[in-house]
Amino acid sequence: MEKKFQAIRGMHDLLPEETPLWQNIEKHIRETVSCFGYQEIRMPILESTHLFKRSIGEITDIVEKEMYSFSDRNGDSLSLRPEGTASCVRAAIEHGLLYNQTQRLWYQGPMFRHERPQKGRYRQFFQVGVEAFGMSGPDIDVELIQLTSELWKRLGINQLKLHLNTLGSNSERLIYKSRLVEYLRDNQSKLDEDSLRRLKSNPMRVLDSKNPEIQDLIKTAPSIISFLGDDSKQHFDFICETLGLLGISFTIDPYLVRGLDYYSNTVFEWKTDLLGSQGTICAGGRYDGLVAQLGGQETPAIGFALGMERLISIVKKIRKDISTTSLDAYFIIVGSEAKKQSFAISQELRDKIPEIKLIINCGNASLKSQFKKADKSGAMYALIIGDDELRNNEIGIKSLRDNEQQISLKVEDLIKFFLKVKEN
Ligand code: HAM
Repeated sequence: MEKKFQAIRGMHDLLPEETPLWQNIEKHIRETVSCFGYQEIRMPILESTHLFKRSIGEITDIVEKEMYSFSDRNGDSLSLRPEGTASCVRAAIEHGLLYNQTQRLWYQGPMFRHERPQKGRYRQFFQVGVEAFGMSGPDIDVELIQLTSELWKRLGINQLKLHLNTLGSNSERLIYKSRLVEYLRDNQSKLDEDSLRRLKSNPMRVLDSKNPEIQDLIKTAPSIISFLGDDSKQHFDFICETLGLLGISFTIDPYLVRGLDYYSNTVFEWKTDLLGSQGTICAGGRYDGLVAQLGGQETPAIGFALGMERLISIVKKIRKDISTTSLDAYFIIVGSEAKKQSFAISQELRDKIPEIKLIINCGNASLKSQFKKADKSGAMYALIIGDDELRNNEIGIKSLRDNEQQISLKVEDLIKFFLKVKEN
């Protein structure tokens, strides 16, 4: 027998029972970013492989091991995007969005990385990314962090911890790097294979090692903070002080580095320990050099991306009360005259309340089995129409989620009832 088709490892179907929660969270995200004046941009999922090599860095896990790259029919090397920043910068340069202007942009969609799949780590995952261009001061850094914090507030999550660091300017980082290399060379015998490799190719990535012994070694490594010049220090201090003023608590983590090479100055991550080893929900930072590196004019920039699967996991864990149903009503019908009327009544409801979600039971089934289907549909209410209701020009309504008695209402009162439901 032919083998059953299955989704590709690390790539998941999102089933109908899950989508209402995703939509609910996506709605909060859309409202929050628009509330800060960010505009949506949509980029293709495929880009030239060279774009990612040039921006993320040749010696990073993503480019070295994780990209889905292939030659197309013309022999051009293309890659499924592993992240959105490179594409966003490419699009902004290509369409002249960066000439003497600032831009506040956001995007969402699937990203692809050939990582080892585990809980919270997938090969296709969804990100929401936010990028701000043309602003060099620390105010925009604060704005982005404030935006994330506002989103957590709207989603009712307060279990995330903000980790903050600065990578300094290019020249400061260069000096720091050489001191770090000295330190790591002095401790070479304690390094594992991966760190030895990173020491040669990209030494700051050693700081990102997950090996506990290396993490111990890092605790006494030189810290970038002591290599900052006045400008970088002032930039960082402004952020810390303003976050303090806003009541957003944070930890300065001088060994926080990011897995992509384009960062400079401010970097940050929102983490939780409720999700095991894949606890970084949202991460980003400044990348002042990237626009020029990809062929645009020098343009300061900063952004972040959040992982939707991880955000959904944490919301599920701590917000048992969050609405996951999407259906308002399920129409239960007895008799063919009632069936015709149910179409007319549901049309009236949809005309007056465009956002109402209701299903009409199709086919003929007993009252009992229709109630069962109504319950299974996740609808909040059953609407019932049979001979009695037809005679009285009314519709029965019964909550499917509590023990309230069934009542009967005229169509105009039913409309008022659902208008109230949708208001809450
Ligand atoms: P990143 O740290 O690679 O940064 O990814 C951001 C977030 O995407 C992570 O914190 C995590 O929540 C989620 N994520 C990453 N890889 C996976 C995976 N394999 N499975 C599930 N979730 C994942 C970036 O991508 C940068 N572009 C962020 C940025 C925007 N920096 C500046 N602007």
